[in-house]
Amino acid sequence: MRTATSYQAGVANGPTQDAFVVLFDELACSRPDVFEHSWRVAELVGQVARTFPTLEMPAWEVERAALAHDIGKVAVPVSVLRKPSGLTPAERRLVEAHSVVGAELLSTLAGSETLASLARSHHERLDGTGYPDGLRGTHVPLGAQIIGACDAWDAMVNLRPYRRALSFSEAAAELRDCAGKHWRRDVVALTLDVVAERPRLAAAVPSGASVRQGRSATLTRPASAVSFAHR
Ligand SMILES: [Fe+2]
Repeated sequence: MRTATSYQAGVANGPTQDAFVVLFDELACSRPDVFEHSWRVAELVGQVARTFPTLEMPAWEVERAALAHDIGKVAVPVSVLRKPSGLTPAERRLVEAHSVVGAELLSTLAGSETLASLARSHHERLDGTGYPDGLRGTHVPLGAQIIGACDAWDAMVNLRPYRRALSFSEAAAELRDCAGKHWRRDVVALTLDVVAERPRLAAAVPSGASVRQGRSATLTRPASAVSFAHR
């Protein structure tokens, strides 16, 4: 099991690392459900990326980007993230802005260009239906596709305020249906291979843990696997 500090090891030393940790402390404290979702997605992304034969960047870098992919949700009101009914167009715009906000936050950190790029593009889709830039085909970074597929998997198999958790077979069918449309077929196939071995990745954040080593515990694990991210 990874610890919070193992991710910090991949971030530049000094002020950049401090700023990175501050961002995650903020996410953990104000949006613990998003933080836990991000942690599970990073676990899954790490496993997929390490077995991906044509990945053109270190697997750890994609894994770290997965941890950061939803950091922009610190700017989305909790009432919107947890809204049990459908979103208004204005609320939808607020939610969808999280990829741009996250990229802007991360771009302020030296050496975090890849994190910023993948945070911005993790909701892009091969068929051009994604956001914020409507990228198509090979313009959607492979790392962003891996994060996107794993993000969708975690969102589907966890309970949301607006729907029940999907079963493994339901989620697998949904993911297969997106192959070649939202993400490359090999991305979907490898993701399904990994989750077949660990269909419900347990949250890796110990109860009461904080991102900052040595900082007083500020994060309390929810009683259930409820996650409200990925609206
Ligand atoms: Fe997202």
